[in-house]
This record gives sequence, C-alpha cells and structure tokens, in this order.
Amino acid sequence: MSTFVVNGQTVTAEKNKKLLRFLRDDLGLTSVKDGCSEGACGACTVIIDGVTCKACVPDTDKLEGRNIITVEGLSDWEKEMYTFAYAEAGAVQCGFCIPGMVMCTKALLDKNPDPTEAEMRYAIRNNYCRCTGYVKIIDAIKLAAQIKRTGVIPEPSNDDWKIGSRVQRLDAEEKVLGTGKYPDDYYMEGMLYGSALRSKYPRARVLSIDTSAARALPGVAAVLTAEDIPGENKIGHLKHDQYTMIPVGGLVHYLGDAIALVAAEDRETLEKAKKLIKVEYEVLPAIHNIQEAGAAGAPKVFDEEKDNVCAYKHISRGDAAGEISRAKHVISRHFETPWTEHAFLEPECAVSYIDQDGDVFIYSTDQSAHQTLHECCMALGTDKVKVQNALVGGGFGGKEDMTVQHHAALLTYVTRRPVKVKLTRAESLLVHPKRHHFEMDFTMGCDENGIIKGVKAKVYTDTGAFASLGGPVLERACTHAAGPYNYQNFEIEGTAYYTNNPPAGAFRGFGVTQTCFATESLLNMMADEIGITPWEIRYRNAIRPGQVLPNGQIVDESTGLVETLEAI
Ligand code: FES
Ligand code: FES
Repeated sequence: MSTFVVNGQTVTAEKNKKLLRFLRDDLGLTSVKDGCSEGACGACTVIIDGVTCKACVPDTDKLEGRNIITVEGLSDWEKEMYTFAYAEAGAVQCGFCIPGMVMCTKALLDKNPDPTEAEMRYAIRNNYCRCTGYVKIIDAIKLAAQIKRTGVIPEPSNDDWKIGSRVQRLDAEEKVLGTGKYPDDYYMEGMLYGSALRSKYPRARVLSIDTSAARALPGVAAVLTAEDIPGENKIGHLKHDQYTMIPVGGLVHYLGDAIALVAAEDRETLEKAKKLIKVEYEVLPAIHNIQEAGAAGAPKVFDEEKDNVCAYKHISRGDAAGEISRAKHVISRHFETPWTEHAFLEPECAVSYIDQDGDVFIYSTDQSAHQTLHECCMALGTDKVKVQNALVGGGFGGKEDMTVQHHAALLTYVTRRPVKVKLTRAESLLVHPKRHHFEMDFTMGCDENGIIKGVKAKVYTDTGAFASLGGPVLERACTHAAGPYNYQNFEIEGTAYYTNNPPAGAFRGFGVTQTCFATESLLNMMADEIGITPWEIRYRNAIRPGQVLPNGQIVDESTGLVETLEAI
C-alpha cells in the first residue's frame, strides 16, 4: 500500500500494481495511454516530481509521497495553450501519442521556457509517434514555448475551410487533452476482460482441448472453444479462411491462431485461467518460406486447399521475351523486400456489450467497420450486431482485418456482459497482417538511348497463415510493376503462397511499393550502363497523356509525370 498525490489529490493504492494500471483502471485517468505496457513507446508518459516518467514502469508501492501529474491535471490555461499549440502546428494525427508528448513538453517548458531545438528533441527522445514524423511536434513545442513566454495565444492562421487553407483538426482538443475515447478508454459496469489462448506451434493438429480446470477457477465467466461459435468459424474480408478458433481435429496455421477464448473478472484471473487450459497437439513440420511452400509435395498449410497457392496472376502484353532478346542492353536482377510491421501506436482493442435493443454492440479501432459488422454477424449467426468505430490510434492498413472484435463479440454474446479484449504489444505484432515479403526476378531490355523495349518478371510473395488481402495485393503488385513508363512489351507472373508465418495484408502502397522498388532499381542500373542520369532515363521513358501504359491503361490529361520530373 502507498499514498501519493495525483493531480493535486491525495490517493492511496491499496494493492501494488503498475502506476499505469492504477491511473487508468482505478482513477479513470485515460489520457495516460497504454501503447506497450513495457516501457518502450512513451504513450503513458506522466510527470513525477517534475520529471517525465513512463507510467507502465514504476510500481505504486515505490511512489510513497510522490507528486504525479497527468494531462487531466493541467491548469485550464495550460490545457488551452497546449491544445492550441498542437492543433495549430498540425502535430495531431491519430492522437494516441499526444498526451505523452504534452507531458514531455510541459516538463521541459516548466524548467526552461526558451529551449533550443536540440533540447526539444531531447525532451521527446523516449516517445514514439508513428504518424507525424516529429517535425510538427517540434513545431508545436516551439509554439507552446512562445505562448508560455508571452502569455498570449495568437490568432489561428486560418479557419475558413477553403481549399488550400491551413485549418486546425476538429478533433485536436480531445486528442491533446486525452478526453477522446479509443476502445481501451471505455470502462463499463460489470466489464469482463477477455483474451485468446493461442497456438503453441506454427503448424500442428489440435487433438484435444480440456477447459475444465479453467472453467472451475473462481472469477472465470466463460471459456469458449470452436464448438461454442453459433455462426461461421471461418471469416475474412474476401476469402473466408481466417479461423475464429481452431477446432479439435483442425490444423493450426500459425502461432497467432486462437484455440480458446476466456473471459474473467480481472486481468490476473484471465491469465491464470489461460494457463489452466490443456491442449494436446500433434506437432507437424511448418512451412517457413516461399520455397518450402512451393516445393513439390510440400505439406499443406490448409487441409481444405489443394496446395499452398493462395493467389496467382499472369499479365502479358506484346512480346516481352522477344523484345528483350533483341535489345541492346539487358539487365536481370533478383530483388527481395522484407515484411514490414505497421507499428501503429495503439494496440488492437474492442469493447462489446449488450445494448438497449438486445444487440451486441462493439466499440472497435478499425479500418473497415462495415466489414467488421458483416464478419461479426457471420460469426454470431445473427444480424443483431452493431459496430461503432472509436478513435483509431493508427492503422496504415494493419487494422483492416478482424483481430479482437469477433472475440469480444462472442464473449459478450455468451456471457451477456460487457467484455474488453485488448492485445498485448507482442500479440499485436504476431496477429495482424504485415506488408508482404516479396521475392522478385526482373529482366529489362533497353535500346542504346535507354528507351525501354520490354520487361519480364516473376514475383513470389508470402501471404502467411490466411489470405487477408493477399490476392488484391498481388494483383496490384503485378499491374503496377511496369512503372509509369511508355513501352508495350511486358509480362509478369505472380504467385502468393500460404505459409505458417504471421499473415500479410494491406499496408500503404498495397503491393506496389515492392515491385516498384525492383523496376526503379533496374532503371537506375540501366542508366548507369548506358551512361545517362537516373533522371534522364525516367524523362525519356515517362508516360505522357494519351499514351498507353504497359498494363494497357490509357493515361489521361491529369497525368503529370513529365511536369513532376521537370519540377525537380
Ligand atoms: S512506454 Fe508505457 S505504455 Fe508504452
Ligand atoms: S499522432 Fe503520434 S502516433 Fe499517431
């Protein structure tokens, strides 16, 4: 037990816990965000005795007599000042990092109202922002410092909302002050905490699941397995191959597959109950990469598929092979691009409850709320479901697929109680789809002036444990691989393979970035070989209005590649 001061009030923490949990769960101070719970992201930053501290690190028992400030504890003047500075500078996007940034700003300016830019950068060194790139956050700190020194909040630069006007975001205030709600900020009377027991192996057959000990644990409200799903087990935006839970007898596809769902009165009981579930597996060899997935006689990722090919695409116009064989300069290269994690700052979370109409109502952090509604209806076997997007703490494509929403909905459907399902940062990294890893073989042929005569390519991608948007990503990768250039002989073959890796799906650029990297790299090499600049080879080949792209698309008057090149 310890007693300390939070925002001017003396409080007592009866039970030792992380300060973050005490501030959020016991005091309801939800400006203090939980981005990782492990001292890495800075979203939970508060001020303790004038110094910034990540609230997920210290135990409350160590805080006897200390003085803690969160954004809720700022004076009205400070709230106005920081809201204006962050909004005016355009420093607020998803907003999840912003209360932590504001705490860093206050701690700095309280000591030094006229800091150098280096001091500003140092002040936010422990805080991640995934959206803004920090430049505008530094601008916000500069503006806040100016306001603090002068005591005057300037007029906003513009508020006429005309095209080209610089205006403040309408949601800036709730994001700066932490009053806006992401799903994790919803706390409800009688709310349970839910979580999935995930597979121990990337590829295995589930032989049995014994939930009896977990069900018997006091404080456990429900333990569900695939048998308890009232509707469809398999969901997915396009292809329904994402299992809500793996049934007995079923094949596990990756370490993120859920075997059982648990809902309990508190987080500690939840974790204890998950450990009491006994699962017997027949461990099977896993498919780790594209080569293993495509090998003759390879073990299958899905029982129900004929092989490991998730999607295939072939595009051919003109005679790429013939033109390349006759070209003066020919370059062939192998390229690989890695998986990329979206690293949005807010981990996935959903809170569901039974609303006044008797429907399952879900607060989601979502890039496809309508799809979430559709798929939750499928899983529950009813259309008595509602989905409302709360604030979304970044997505970048990584929050297109369902992760927690259907699990929360199922637990609420069965228990008839509010349920919060929130992923840990480690679960989040494991479960949501990444940018696809690509392996690519490209050949380009040019004449003596660097004019492209033909391009031929084969690309392979690892779409992981379920399709997600792997098919459309492959399609976009192939149709855009030719680049924005004027030539008519192009052939590409693309294959997306299932593997037992975490899934890959939507990410900004949607497959185009990978093949674009190959095409543009080849162009640079070709420019070197011919003896012209990278700019010149692009200018000579640039598509112009009225011309036809290698994929057959006729470009219109809005095409400005030449003007863009001339402008640089
Ligand atoms: S550093 Fe505390 S939640 Fe990330
Ligand atoms: S605005 Fe900083 S993480 Fe989104």
